[in-house]
Amino acid sequence: MATITVDGKEIYAKDDATLIDELLANGINIPHFCYHPSLGKDGNCRMCMVEIEGKKRPQIACDTPVTDGMIIRTKGENIARVKRQILELELINHPVDCPICDQAGECSLQNYYMDVGLYDSRLDTPKNKKKKHIDLGANVMLDRERCVLCTRCVRFTKNITKTHELGVVVRNDHSYISTFPGTKLSNPYAMNVIDLCPVGALTSKDFRFHQRVWFLKPLEAICDGCSRGCSLFVDHNKEKYKDDVIYRYRPRFNKDINGYFICDYGRLSYKKENENRLLNAYIRGMESEFEYALLKMERLLKRYNSKTLFLLSPTLSLEEIYRFKVLSKKLGAQINGFDENFDENFEDDMLRKSDKTPNRKAFTYLKIKDDMDSLKEQIKDKDFVLLVGRDDVETIENLGFEGSLGVMNYRDFEQKDKLDIVIPTVSHTSRDGCFINCDDFIQFSSCKIDKNLEAVNLLIFISTILNDGKTTCEDVWNSGLGKMDFLKGIKFKSVKTNTIKIETK
Ligand code: SF4
Ligand code: SF4
Ligand code: FES
Repeated sequence: MATITVDGKEIYAKDDATLIDELLANGINIPHFCYHPSLGKDGNCRMCMVEIEGKKRPQIACDTPVTDGMIIRTKGENIARVKRQILELELINHPVDCPICDQAGECSLQNYYMDVGLYDSRLDTPKNKKKKHIDLGANVMLDRERCVLCTRCVRFTKNITKTHELGVVVRNDHSYISTFPGTKLSNPYAMNVIDLCPVGALTSKDFRFHQRVWFLKPLEAICDGCSRGCSLFVDHNKEKYKDDVIYRYRPRFNKDINGYFICDYGRLSYKKENENRLLNAYIRGMESEFEYALLKMERLLKRYNSKTLFLLSPTLSLEEIYRFKVLSKKLGAQINGFDENFDENFEDDMLRKSDKTPNRKAFTYLKIKDDMDSLKEQIKDKDFVLLVGRDDVETIENLGFEGSLGVMNYRDFEQKDKLDIVIPTVSHTSRDGCFINCDDFIQFSSCKIDKNLEAVNLLIFISTILNDGKTTCEDVWNSGLGKMDFLKGIKFKSVKTNTIKIETK
């Protein structure tokens, strides 16, 4: 470790680390455009200037290694003037169209201007005009006038996805970002350039003009699009007289899982939370009152008892799956997790996995069978099959099952009219719970959006049947889940805030 002095205060920093990393890690505000921890330095924007004692001129913190005893100034008249001058240069040809820009409210340029700019324009010549509203492909729109040419987007396609769709063309103040002739921005991670772009030059075709960012409230969740289980922010808002709506998913940094990025498929999967929801309960194809259908389900389970098979989805949380195991034990029923949601073409060497469910590993850890042979065996003498978190009725029909069939899920589906009972449940972002990813990392998804829908929370549903009051994830951990061998040494409290690797023997 090195000891460095920043604005008169001593801090510890990693010897030889990049100065900007250490300053940012210590909560010191260093304006920067071109530097990004995932892309490294480029040194083109000059925004990260600091004064270093012994050096004649200010230096860029993104290309300066830490050395023991360094004395640094990030504030003061001199450095403020330097930053103001650089900002003035950045903004010479900028249209300053913040009121109609989708990035307003989360724009680095806007923030830095308010922090250190605050000058009046000295320009009395016309600005350079550049093209606006350019569809780059892959849901990304480019506004060339707003671009500060930091090249983060170019370096992302060059160094991270290695798809090389973007480049800087033409020289000097006529330079602009472009796709290469005849190509489009089209890789499965393309929308990450929207988050990387520090200004409003790259915006999301899907999100833009739908909501001002200052109305959005972020909640933490994990993506249920595949077994990677990337960490996400769920940005949602409830407007007066309207239901709560999710407007976008954004990557949430997680060094163990997804780093700074997510794939476009996962990013856009927020739509399933808003659309095509199952709005009613059904009994034998007829719409039913929600409470009545719940009572009916309770009665069915009591009637069929050991003749019941629960076919669970690997999208359920660890707590939900565990509780169904407890319930099936109590009823003498069977439980299975067979599910065919795999897509080999989806997998790549970055994040995406062919298993398109977030919690299949939970079946292995909870010792629940999830193969076709066991399903065939278990279904043989059953009179009632309940699909939970899924609606693939054909999986059961293809096995020639002729007994009663029920579904508890959040999505609307075609065959609901021919089933004995259908009950809507809350969706992925409306209940909390743990998920175990493909690499045995356990994460807690805490996002609980309260939608204005009649839908049952599965933990509450099971606790009503068992009459044991275990309605929360914490109750479930304390009631036995937390004592299971594979969770030895892991406390619910730490899972709630950390990503933890399950030690496999
Ligand atoms: S479009 Fe955005 S990320 Fe790309 S160079 Fe311009 S400002 Fe940087
Ligand atoms: S890689 Fe998988 S978990 Fe990650 S964002 Fe994409 S679909 Fe979601
Ligand atoms: S962030 Fe250091 S030069 Fe751009």
